[in-house]
Amino acid sequence: MSSGQLYDTIGATYTVSRRTDPRIAARIWAALGDARTVVNVGAGTGSYEPSDRDVIGVEPSALMRSQRHAGAAPCLAAVAERLPFEDGSFDAAMAISTVHHWQDPIAGLRELRRVARRVVVFTHDTTSTGWLERFWLIRDYLPEVAGLLDGRPSLTEQARAIGARIEPVLIPWDCVDGFFEAYWRRPEAYLDEQVRRTVSVWTRVGWEAERRAVRSLRDDLASGRWTERNRDLVDLEAAELGLRLLVA
Ligand SMILES: C[S@@+](CC[C@H](N)C(=O)[O-])C[C@H]1O[C@@H](n2cnc3c(N)ncnc32)[C@H](O)[C@@H]1O
Repeated sequence: MSSGQLYDTIGATYTVSRRTDPRIAARIWAALGDARTVVNVGAGTGSYEPSDRDVIGVEPSALMRSQRHAGAAPCLAAVAERLPFEDGSFDAAMAISTVHHWQDPIAGLRELRRVARRVVVFTHDTTSTGWLERFWLIRDYLPEVAGLLDGRPSLTEQARAIGARIEPVLIPWDCVDGFFEAYWRRPEAYLDEQVRRTVSVWTRVGWEAERRAVRSLRDDLASGRWTERNRDLVDLEAAELGLRLLVA
C-alpha cells in the first residue's frame, strides 16, 4: 500500500488531534523567509500553511484533501516524486511531517528543489540517539518502530541531496499537533485510541505491538513505574527528540 493510500485508510479522523502548533509554525514560516509563492507538498488537511502567502497544496490522499477547510489553499492530487510543475515555479516548497511516507524521499526532495528556489522540510533525524533511544515510548514500549526505518535514507543523505542545513526543533511539552512524539510529557494521551489513530506509526507497527505497548504503558502509569523512569521529563518545557528542519 502506498502512503497516499494509507492515508485514505487511516486519515478519516486526522483533524481530531493534528493541527498547527504555533511555535513549530513560527520556525517553519521564518525559514520560508520572504517567499510569496509556496507549494506545500504532502499537504494533508492544510496544517502549517501560512495565510499571508500564496499557497498551493499537493496531496495524494483524497480523504485528506476532503478535510481541508473551505477557505484553505487549493490542493492538487499528486505525489512529491512527480510534481506537476515547471522548474522554478515557486519561491519556496515546504513539506511537513510527510517525507517519511514518500516511496522515494530523495527523488521527492529533488523535485522540491527543482520547482522552488527555497525548500523547508520538517522531519525526523531517525539516526539520532534522540529518537530511537531517548524517546521513552519507543525505547520502553514500542521497539518495533526501529524496523520501520529499514532501507530509508538517513537525514544526512536527505540534506545532502538538496544541499540543506539541518536545524533542531524542540517539541514543546504542550504541543498541539498530535504527532507521534507530541505527548512526551503527557503519557496518558497514548492510551487514547483516537490520539493513536491520527498517527501512522501505530498502524504500521501492527495491531499486536500496539496492544502490547498500550497495555504495558497503562500498567506502568498505574504502578508509578513510568514516573519513576522518567523523572527528568516532569519539569522540562521542551524536549529534543530528533525533530529537525531541513532548510535549503
Ligand atoms: C502525517 S501527514 C502530514 C500532513 C500535513 N503536512 C501536516 O503537517 O499535517 C502525511 C501526508 O503525506 C502524504 N503523502 C504520502 N505519500 C506521499 C507522497 N509520495 N507525496 C506527497 N505526499 C504524500 C499523506 O497522504 C499524508 O497526507
